[in-house]
Amino acid sequence: MADADGNVYVDMTAGFGAALIGHTHPHVVAALRTQSERMLHALGDVYPSDVKVALEARLAQMAPWPARVILGLSGADAIEAALKTAVLHTKRSGVLAFEGGYHGLSYGAVSVCGYKRAFREPFARQLNANVCFAPYADSRVEGALERSLGAVDRAFARGDVGAVLVEPVQGRGGVVVPPEGFLSALSERAKRVGAVLIVDEIYTGLHRTGGVWRAVDDGCDPDIVCLGKALGGGLPVSACVMRDEVANAWGDPDGEAIHTSTFLGNPLACAAAMASLDVLESPETQVAIRVTGARLADALDILAVDPALGITRVTHVGLLAGVTVAGGVARSLAVMRAMLERGYVLLPGGVAGDVLTLTPPCTLTAAQVAGFAQALDASLRAVRP
Ligand SMILES: Cc1ncc(COP(=O)(O)O)c(C=O)c1O
Repeated sequence: MADADGNVYVDMTAGFGAALIGHTHPHVVAALRTQSERMLHALGDVYPSDVKVALEARLAQMAPWPARVILGLSGADAIEAALKTAVLHTKRSGVLAFEGGYHGLSYGAVSVCGYKRAFREPFARQLNANVCFAPYADSRVEGALERSLGAVDRAFARGDVGAVLVEPVQGRGGVVVPPEGFLSALSERAKRVGAVLIVDEIYTGLHRTGGVWRAVDDGCDPDIVCLGKALGGGLPVSACVMRDEVANAWGDPDGEAIHTSTFLGNPLACAAAMASLDVLESPETQVAIRVTGARLADALDILAVDPALGITRVTHVGLLAGVTVAGGVARSLAVMRAMLERGYVLLPGGVAGDVLTLTPPCTLTAAQVAGFAQALDASLRAVRP
């Protein structure tokens, strides 16, 4: 991609993760062209477009159980829909979320964000007071699983928790991978107390870190899964995919819908999502994600063992990777700047801001991975801890 001055960059973020299949994928562009001649805007879910109905049916069919879908425009929208569904279903106000978790910044979503305090503090007095946080289980920290599940048990003992919200791998929180068994233990516990388990697959899902549903592959049995980012292939669309029994709590609308918005299920966004799913489901894309992810992981693992580079940790799962640098946020920002000057776009992440976060598209070539690794090596040497 190029900036306003014509400088060309390799986008190692895939536009915050949305362009998993690459920017401006021809199949998505063709679908948009066709849809733009048919219908730009319909009446949300009152008189929906055919393509919105088709997208909802397709997502429901992809779900691990009989499902219903609420579409949204952003990841945060999907989280809001999920939180409302849990309240309707359980009639309980409490929400359990995780420290370091990121779910978007609208009021409902920011209230369940355990990410940076700065995101919450100015609004703290207006945020949902029924949210409590447990430590996330980081597979690299000894005893973290027990500590996390212990906190989950204590929260459940309060008796008012109706929703549990978790990322299968914390993305923005610094690419934190939980140990095997964490997600399944969480779903067992949620079931035991009758809480709705909401899995936020907005970053991890749709093959970025494995299958369509990363958490399900990890042995978890969620009640609601939220998708976004890669779903629209670059257009704004998200989905709250709900197990039928849980979704039934919305009842049959016999008057005005109590959860909707003007652009919900926008036909262009839905057409882009249908095309994006075609590409994501193709064996070629899945091979590309695996191969590119492995190439990137190899390159990062080589850098990680060079003590001169000041890397304290490298984590990678598919096309989601984090490089923690010594020197904190000041150094990670300086390295990010140095990388931009060398033609590579990346983002800082992690609660302390010291994790260079990589969520590249699957179209990244071997030469681009090699060029990126060389540039990162040079940038880390140039910016000392
Ligand atoms: C896991 C996760 N959930 C939710 C969101 C919020 O998505 P959006 O920015 O589209 O509202 C993000 C965004 O980075 C995310 O990473």
